[in-house]
Amino acid sequence: MKYSNMNPQEIEAYKSDDLRYVAQTTPFGKQLALVKGSGATVWDVEGKRYLDFIAGIAVNNVGHAHPEVVEAICAQARQSLHLNVFGKVLVPVQVDLARQLAKVTPPGLDKIFFTNSGTEAIEGAIKLARRATGRHKIIAFEGAFHGRTCGALSISYREVYRKPFEPLLPDVTFIPFNDLKAAEEAITDEVSMVIIEPIQGEGGVHVPSDDFLPGLRELCTKHGAMLALDEIQTGFGRTGRFFACEHWNVTPDILTVAKAVGGGMPLGGFIARPEVMDLLTDPPLSHMTTFGGHPVSCAAGLASLNIILRDKLVERSERLGGQIRERLWEMKKKDDVIVDVRGKGLMIGLEFRDPEITKVIVKHAQDLGVILSYGVYSGGTVRISPPLTISDEEVDEGLGIIEKAIRLSV
Ligand SMILES: Cc1ncc(COP(=O)(O)O)c(C=O)c1O
Repeated sequence: MKYSNMNPQEIEAYKSDDLRYVAQTTPFGKQLALVKGSGATVWDVEGKRYLDFIAGIAVNNVGHAHPEVVEAICAQARQSLHLNVFGKVLVPVQVDLARQLAKVTPPGLDKIFFTNSGTEAIEGAIKLARRATGRHKIIAFEGAFHGRTCGALSISYREVYRKPFEPLLPDVTFIPFNDLKAAEEAITDEVSMVIIEPIQGEGGVHVPSDDFLPGLRELCTKHGAMLALDEIQTGFGRTGRFFACEHWNVTPDILTVAKAVGGGMPLGGFIARPEVMDLLTDPPLSHMTTFGGHPVSCAAGLASLNIILRDKLVERSERLGGQIRERLWEMKKKDDVIVDVRGKGLMIGLEFRDPEITKVIVKHAQDLGVILSYGVYSGGTVRISPPLTISDEEVDEGLGIIEKAIRLSV
């Protein structure tokens, strides 16, 4: 297999050319050189095996290189690659995926605009909300993360990442997550969109109280603002429901997807009721993308969606997630280095006493063969989001390694 079993000199040459030729956004260089994945297991260039407890950050919900997804990719690639996606050309595989998606989205949210990524889905949501309301004020939340392009960055909370790129979008107000009183004050008749992750991901896996999202829904309806739910990380069974909003029976006006929607290929989208989405036809071509909804990505997404439904992976996520959190609570009782265990389904946050210990634990776990990570906005919280297909035995093995990594770190 290409790139496998490299000798140390070859690996060093790749690492040094990576620093030289590939743009970096951290000063540290790459820590892992992964070249193969199957199910919940990945291998590095030297053939070392790891259990993947983050699934490419909630992307590989059906596992790495699921044979049916790979077959769908190959079959579509043999038939066609890019064929001009929007405007004039009908791409049947896009329609097939959109049809299937309409069966699993909240009631009425039947129309999707396909993008390449999550941040582009957010850009589309911002434009659609402006177009639908004729307003431009946005309410976002402390701890929120929605992406790195200028619009998405404007509504992401961490100032350190926004400041160097200002001025960004005007009239964005951040209010505390899970604070209905603050929402009541902030949501007025001038607001175009309230955007929220139903469970905050990068902010540290925060689950709102049961009245929060229904309360936001009511406020948005009262003031004619669009409620946009960013389900880029929480969608496709990750939280034990197909979409996290189902935990609270909340139907948004706009829903954004990415990550798992493409089954491991780049794909995203923003979804709305047809009468809202159709506003983008006036003026014609109000929104466009060259590659969004690429046929190969849609074929992979369709295969992946069918696997999630057929193999009841949503239910599996709920069951396994509950079991993992129980085991983590047991660990917390024994060890006061753990301060909290949060999440729903297989979207789990494990908060440690301080971010330095968290880093050491993640490093030890990696050396012992489990890949973990912490949220970009929450250094103290380790995320656990394995493929929904992970076996009970692999969960057991991985949790044993995490326990060992904690013992080695304190
Ligand atoms: C909730 C949420 N929104 C948006 C994004 C941005 O998605 P992408 O990295 O595909 O641009 C992410 C990525 O982590 C995310 O977690």
